[in-house]
Amino acid sequence: MSHVPSDPRLGTRRIRRVAFSRTDIERRVGELGAEITAAYPDGDLVLVGLLKGSLFFLADLARAIQRPVWIDFLVASSYGREKVSTGEVRVRYEPAIPLQGRHILVVEDIIDSGRTLGVLLDRLRSAEPQSLAVCALLDKRLAPPPPELRFVGFAAPPDFLVGYGLDHAEDFRHLPYIAEVD
Ligand code: IMP
Ligand code: MG
Repeated sequence: MSHVPSDPRLGTRRIRRVAFSRTDIERRVGELGAEITAAYPDGDLVLVGLLKGSLFFLADLARAIQRPVWIDFLVASSYGREKVSTGEVRVRYEPAIPLQGRHILVVEDIIDSGRTLGVLLDRLRSAEPQSLAVCALLDKRLAPPPPELRFVGFAAPPDFLVGYGLDHAEDFRHLPYIAEVD
């Protein structure tokens, strides 16, 4: 799907094209939920959402998983107002749920350079979980993925994407689809 919708959520802003429609996302999140349910037959599963980008993905994914889960968050920042990663990662909030001996599934919006994730995985590994894996909605495949990357929604185009949690300078997060901006 690639037509540009007229959408009051955009205000005067423009998008170039819709990369993943609302329906594409719903279908794929449902499939990921089923994959994750099958992958964790036992043990305690903690979904750790990386905010703010994973906001809607985490909410939809968690409800597509047919087994008990806990939900917590990690808040880090690496981008500021830039479209290009600076490589600096600051952690502002860490999960309050004890992670030792539990399955951790990190829920990430998009893997770009993978730097943010690399730093956060190091921290989570030191919590001695039973297992550590990552579910990313989008993967730009610009760098070799971390071995923990186990569930991926879509291979993403190399363009800058917004919507369904993804922002540009905090704009566009609430679009129910994922779009390319100029
Ligand atoms: P990385 O450290 O370069 O992998 O960047 C990861 C983070 O940068 C993601 O979790 C997003 O918050 C943000 N990011 C990377 N690519 C995009 C994009 O195309 N649109 C919006 N945010 C992005
Ligand atoms: Mg961001």
